[in-house]
Amino acid sequence: MRIILLGPAGSGKGTQGELIERHYGFPRISTGDLLRLEVQKGTELGKTVAEVMKSGQLVADELVLRVVKNRINDPDCRAGYVLDGYPRTLNQALLLEKIDDDRPEIVLEIKISEEAVMERLAGRRVCPGCGAVYNINNSKAISGGRCPACGAGLTVRNDDRPEVIKERFRIYRETIGPLLEHYSRKKVLFQVDGQRTVEEVFGSIRSILDDRMARRQEESRRP
Ligand code: AP5
Repeated sequence: MRIILLGPAGSGKGTQGELIERHYGFPRISTGDLLRLEVQKGTELGKTVAEVMKSGQLVADELVLRVVKNRINDPDCRAGYVLDGYPRTLNQALLLEKIDDDRPEIVLEIKISEEAVMERLAGRRVCPGCGAVYNINNSKAISGGRCPACGAGLTVRNDDRPEVIKERFRIYRETIGPLLEHYSRKKVLFQVDGQRTVEEVFGSIRSILDDRMARRQEESRRP
């Protein structure tokens, strides 16, 4: 099983990806997180992508493919995985199908307006210690500026500046069309309204996933 989460910056891909991982046991693979780790470690790849990420542009396909390929070859991905932020272009989708094509696929597009994204991302705080993600708009627990889970000081992502958020949203709108057409043609695309509470959004995602998985099981039992 391959679950793909599409949606602009701040639509909740990471938040929902974690809930899917917890509920269904498929590991979440966030290309943003993997690339940020490379930057943090100061690897050659990290040095190459740091400025691109800071400006909100897309990292070159072959570089992102390298981190995805490494991760999906890990043993915990054998039964399935959740891709958060990959693919972002039709070319990336085609590359993915080349390296790991033999899997049932469910693609969820989380829909949200630019205004809602701007408000959400202005409130996002991340923990450099344990990687937890919070929002000052809906979490009183972080009012002291410390991570409730590990105590580290919370920070703002360096691409969560208003002008960069706008750019990320613009790029998403510009590149997503062919990708949606591709998955729509494959009849694996589902849309979810992301402008509701985290629990409501996850409720919709769960009913889509449960339904599709039950159908697949039924089909595989047919002689
Ligand atoms: P990445 O890290 O993937 O960033 P993104 O796609 O811009 O998405 P975000 O992480 O900003 O948002 P999200 O949708 O995960 O929302 P979240 O759950 O955190 O990529 C960063 C960069 O890496 C890219 O710009 C690019 O340079 C590079 N990159 C990555 N993948 C690439 C690829 N495939 N190709 C090329 N380059 C690539 O939620 C946001 C906030 O809202 C949080 O504070 C959260 O708590 C809150 N929240 C979530 N859901 C709700 C809700 N329902 N109601 C209220 N608040 C909510």
